Amino acid sequence: MRVISVCVGSSCHLKGSYDIIRIFKELLNKYNLENEWELKAEFCCNNCRNPVSVKIDGSNPYSVSPDDAEAFFREKILEAK
Ligand code: FES
Repeated sequence: MRVISVCVGSSCHLKGSYDIIRIFKELLNKYNLENEWELKAEFCCNNCRNPVSVKIDGSNPYSVSPDDAEAFFREKILEAK
C-alpha cells in the first residue's frame, strides 16, 4: 500500500492541512483508490516556511496549498499509476 502523508503541525494546520486531507480523501474515494493508498497525518517535518508539507511514500516534503491540492493529486497520484 502506498502512503500520502499530510503534515498537521501547527504551521501547516494554519495553512490548510485539514482542507488538503479532506480533498485527498474525496479524490481517493472518487477514483476508487482507497485500497491502494493510505492517507495519514504526520507532525512537523521542518518545512514550515512553505505551504503544507505532503509526502508520498516518505519522500522529501512537497509543498502544497489547498488550492493546488487537486492538481497535485492528479500529477502525483493519478498520473503516477
Ligand atoms: S508544521 Fe508542517 S512542516 Fe512544520
